[in-house]
Amino acid sequence: RKAAGKPGAPIIFAHRGASGSRPENTMSAFQRAVELGATGIETDVQLSVDGEPVLIHDETLSRTAGASGWVGDKTYEELSSLDAGSWYHPEFMGERIPHLDELLQLVRKTGIVVNLELKNTVRVYEGLEQKVIAAVREHGVENQTIISSFNHYSLVLCKKLAPEIRTGILYIEGLYRPWDYAKSLGSDALHAYDPAVRAEWVQEALEAGTDYHPFTVNDESRLRELIAMGAAGIITDHPDRVVRLLAERRA
Ligand code: G3P
Ligand code: MG
Repeated sequence: RKAAGKPGAPIIFAHRGASGSRPENTMSAFQRAVELGATGIETDVQLSVDGEPVLIHDETLSRTAGASGWVGDKTYEELSSLDAGSWYHPEFMGERIPHLDELLQLVRKTGIVVNLELKNTVRVYEGLEQKVIAAVREHGVENQTIISSFNHYSLVLCKKLAPEIRTGILYIEGLYRPWDYAKSLGSDALHAYDPAVRAEWVQEALEAGTDYHPFTVNDESRLRELIAMGAAGIITDHPDRVVRLLAERRA
């Protein structure tokens, strides 16, 4: 199957939404990503104690939601009453921790690609894969979705449950020939920590049918390099920078 990106025209994934200019993982950050011209949104998915998929990065609430304790110990009602905007700037007071359904509605409406990162390494959320897949199918956005995780067992399970949804392997270490590893897992993309990415590997991976989607890249000269080497996607806090660099290339 053809990978979604093409050399010189990567999918621009706004990391946690437009987190360079909005409080991460809020509807405001996702909407801003669309406004800035991002063609994809990356977000982090966890489960409330009563099993609702919610979008927040940390496993605990103190940094971005002004509360103590663990995401996975609170009900959805408790989580949705928290303020996920004030920590970033008072102007965003009242932003909430979104439910996955809210983002998928935006994805459906705008046609943007969504990268759902399953946050299941620190805490294991029973049934997370099934719930996320059910939501993606319910909203009819299978073709716009890529599921990633640092938990690769989870990716294998997703592929088994939903072969039609793409998966991406998150990793930080210098894996040897990660495209071979991706193939062995039935995965479609390499969500590689950026310093572990080289032009010749991107090329070889593309020949093997595997996309590189490096994270998290904000530096302009590095963004230029990744575009030139044909990365199929780039995960960035500043989607507008990539939009501008791509426009400059075309000019
Ligand atoms: O999915 C790319 C990146 O988001 C992975 O790391 O910690 O920002 O979720 P993290
Ligand atoms: Mg993430």
